[in-house]
Amino acid sequence: MIYNQWYVILESKELKKGKPLLVKRLNEQLSLWRDENGNACCIADKCCHRGVSLSCGQIIDGKLECPFHGFIYDKQGKVISIPANGKNAAVPQSMKVQSYRTFEDYGFIWIWWGDENKTDQDPFFFKE
Ligand code: FES
Repeated sequence: MIYNQWYVILESKELKKGKPLLVKRLNEQLSLWRDENGNACCIADKCCHRGVSLSCGQIIDGKLECPFHGFIYDKQGKVISIPANGKNAAVPQSMKVQSYRTFEDYGFIWIWWGDENKTDQDPFFFKE
């Protein structure tokens, strides 16, 4: 694949609100879901704790909960809550997975495949 490019990975209608979806694209297992505003979110489908498939979890307040020990992930792939440590306990910065910037329009969902700081434009698309 060509690095630093947008790639269509899904038709918008395939990603329903309220349930995560597992897709394999670009040789990666990806977990997608819609946040509380309906925006598409995409992170690696492997929990940083014990490697469980995150797409088997559930969406809570627009975040993705791992089905095994309940770590909560935001759309940047960062763990924002570890239930066993207490509700307000700090989460180590190292607790995260790869995340992918998304873009959605024309009935498709794209992800940015490359350096995050090189995402300077929306994907190019021939409407017709
Ligand atoms: S395996 Fe995901 S929280 Fe433990």
